[in-house]
Amino acid sequence: MLEEELIFLTEDFVRKILGNDESGHDWWHILRVRNLALSIGKMEGADLFIVEMAALLHDVDDWKLRVGLTRKHRAKEWLLDNGIEPEIINKICDVIYKVSFKGANVNTPVTNPECAAVQDADRLDAIGAIGIARTFAYGGSRGRSIYDPDVPPVLHNDFEEYKNSKAPTINHFYEKLLLLKDRMQTKSGRAMAEQRHEFMVDFLDQFYSEWNTEFF
Ligand code: NI
Repeated sequence: MLEEELIFLTEDFVRKILGNDESGHDWWHILRVRNLALSIGKMEGADLFIVEMAALLHDVDDWKLRVGLTRKHRAKEWLLDNGIEPEIINKICDVIYKVSFKGANVNTPVTNPECAAVQDADRLDAIGAIGIARTFAYGGSRGRSIYDPDVPPVLHNDFEEYKNSKAPTINHFYEKLLLLKDRMQTKSGRAMAEQRHEFMVDFLDQFYSEWNTEFF
């Protein structure tokens, strides 16, 4: 099968799975990540087919999404069903596995430009204005409160701890989002992250100033 044709079919496959997601991992998230990953990948000299396929499939097995609970290896099965060579499947799945954030104190090493491009793209979509919107959408979809001054943020040491956190959404900024700028893998990703990071810092300042407005 032609690469172009496979990409087209994969778009359709992913849209069917994530089309109705209400937690910020919808089809538009996938499209933004794909576009960012391709631009970063181009600058990094990555294999753009691997980048594009991994970006499209990076959330279909995500632990965070309800849709992923019944089947665990949808991305791999999809690639197998379409007759992709095992070597290519391994490359794509390796990128997908390494993309996900697993906790503040858990390292996710990146070993090649394809991984770096998709990981940076996914992390860029988690910060800035879109990141803020997605974070509250995700929190709401999981029944989390917006903010509770009595619940301090926690820097998680392992993935289980991070995964099971039920903390208010504002804590997520400290547990993940504000850490991402320093974990970007590429130069272009880092530059974009700086600007989005500043925007989140301003947002939090404004949030607390409104929260603490005195009655007079
Ligand atoms: Ni994602």
